[in-house]
Amino acid sequence: MVFFHSKPNWQLSEQQVTAETAFWNRRRFMKTMMGAGVGIAVAPLAACQTTRTIDPKLERTLGRSLGTVPLNAAFADAGRLPTDQAYASSYNNYYEFGSTKGVWPNAQALPTDPWRLEVSGLVKNPQTYDLDDLTRRFPLEERIYRFRCVEAWAMVVPWIGFPMRYILEAAEPTSAAKFVRFTSYYDAQVCPGPAYGFALNLPWPYVEGLTVAEMANDLAFFAVGIYGRTLPKQHGAPIRMVVPWKYGFKGAKAIVKIEFVDQQPATYWNTIAPNEYGFEANVNPAVPHPRWSQATERLLGETTNLFNWETQPTVIYNGYGDYVANLYA
Ligand code: MTE
Repeated sequence: MVFFHSKPNWQLSEQQVTAETAFWNRRRFMKTMMGAGVGIAVAPLAACQTTRTIDPKLERTLGRSLGTVPLNAAFADAGRLPTDQAYASSYNNYYEFGSTKGVWPNAQALPTDPWRLEVSGLVKNPQTYDLDDLTRRFPLEERIYRFRCVEAWAMVVPWIGFPMRYILEAAEPTSAAKFVRFTSYYDAQVCPGPAYGFALNLPWPYVEGLTVAEMANDLAFFAVGIYGRTLPKQHGAPIRMVVPWKYGFKGAKAIVKIEFVDQQPATYWNTIAPNEYGFEANVNPAVPHPRWSQATERLLGETTNLFNWETQPTVIYNGYGDYVANLYA
């Protein structure tokens, strides 16, 4: 399938990008001067890159050399600079391992090797992949995507992975398949869950869902890496969903099973609080969360300085309307 797109409505002019680069460089300079940000590098302007040299750790995870991975030119410019990796990988939501944003040390208990991903349900070709099968069969690429959490914080992340539709095409869903159910790793012995979870009877494992048409969309992506490196466990290693036009909770981490089904699946947050977390969950500034507005978003910055984060207007479909608006016409 071939996709044609006009310039996304959030894409900045060259002049604005330069201004934003200067802004980030100024912040970096100030932080260095204050002695607070040693070792945190602002990522280079995405549009200048064409390939990513892969960190040896990702190669070790996959057990082979990758050299470089191409940056997909259609997703080289997210209209904002990528978020510092140090911030993105230390401010996470991963409720299997706790309910604070600083969950990353707990998440290191996630066992990722060996890993099996089952693809089953209403398909002609059910299959179980390991990580090596997946990454040999489906060519890896880098995409720089906006990310918008339902909690109104946002970031820009360079993911490495492959389009979800590759798995869909290999599975060949039958005409009865209408939805896809994605299940995250869960083992009660390994995952302590949130401290208050004992009182709530939480619906583990974490499950998310898409329509088959959403999974087939060019934007829908499986990530195995981030910032040129192995996906850290707190981001959902070794493979997680990335659906950038939807709120972040739709992107389930550490996927172990993908099932093609005929009914809309029950999903984790939608089961817990259906009035707050819809199944569709497309980013939409005009539809407030019952407890807060979605009209603006805060760009993830220094975690110690939460209330000084830069605020920007939220954009419908997180700016990806050219790709997905037709799914909801
Ligand atoms: N997947 C699982 N299995 N468990 C979770 O708690 N949290 C979701 C989503 N995927 C979550 C999950 C939420 S609410 C968000 S905002 C994103 O992961 C956060 O992704 P990040 O921590 O990689 O930024």
